[in-house]
Amino acid sequence: MKLKIAIQKSGRLHEDSIKLLNDCGLNVKNGHNQLKSNAENFPAEVYFLRDDDIPQYVEDGVAHIGFVGENVLYEKAKTVEVVEQVGFGKCRLSIAVSKNDEYTGPQFLEGKKIATSYPFLTQKFLTENGVNCEIHEISGSVELAPGIGLADAVCDLVSSGFTLFMNGLKEVQPILQCQTVLIKSSVLPHEQQTLLDQLVFRIRSVRKAKKYKYVLLNAPQASLDAIISLLPGMRSPTVLPLAQSGWSSVHSVIEEDAFWTKIEQLKAAGAEGILVIPIEKMIV
Ligand code: PRP
Ligand code: ZN
Repeated sequence: MKLKIAIQKSGRLHEDSIKLLNDCGLNVKNGHNQLKSNAENFPAEVYFLRDDDIPQYVEDGVAHIGFVGENVLYEKAKTVEVVEQVGFGKCRLSIAVSKNDEYTGPQFLEGKKIATSYPFLTQKFLTENGVNCEIHEISGSVELAPGIGLADAVCDLVSSGFTLFMNGLKEVQPILQCQTVLIKSSVLPHEQQTLLDQLVFRIRSVRKAKKYKYVLLNAPQASLDAIISLLPGMRSPTVLPLAQSGWSSVHSVIEEDAFWTKIEQLKAAGAEGILVIPIEKMIV
């Protein structure tokens, strides 16, 4: 029995999806010229699909789980369950117009034509803003549409903004913030649910590890208490005596968000020789 995992065949989410699976110990070869691949070390099979098709595959149970952008998930409105956000693929669905146009607000689109691969979400935005605008649905290379006279505007995903820039367009109105989510079929068999639970546990360990750094520092005896009080650690910091008397080595983990503030406080409290090391997995 295998867990069938759908990921994007090519595009923004492809590399990050494979990397996350690899970090979780599922060795997956990337899928150029390949639609299916077996994971090593884990009973899983990976399907490389167009991201737009992933919700349907998962709804049908043909794939048990999938990594897909919320943009595609909300556009397709299929019956699947969101397991969790996986922290990559952050982007937004936005309206963009020619870089020379002056966008005055949603009314700019009144009586115009907009090209998109997201007709459902685009229409929702237009309706909410009481704008009449013709939607021209195309499945790819949407950014070309204004330049070739097919539309006055586009509604597409923007991540770095590079694609828009290369096509002489500018982003004027974000309509939805999105990131990648792990979705599962609502008809998931029991054995696959067990495999999914294992995978989710690993994903959380990998993600948690990214938020923390391992810190080692030297502390003179007089500063030890002050330094320890600054460092929570997973339970509490490890304190080891140095060969030189009167000094200890203190080991702990600190959160990325508070990182620089903490380092400054530690220095001020008398810490020396501070080393910071990335953590690969964090099992709590
Ligand atoms: C999206 C979108 C743009 C690109 C934007 O493609 O369609 O082409 O990413 O990214 P940028 O702002 O960094 O240039 P996606 O990976 O979702 O693939 P698809 O549209 O072919 O499904
Ligand atoms: Zn797509």
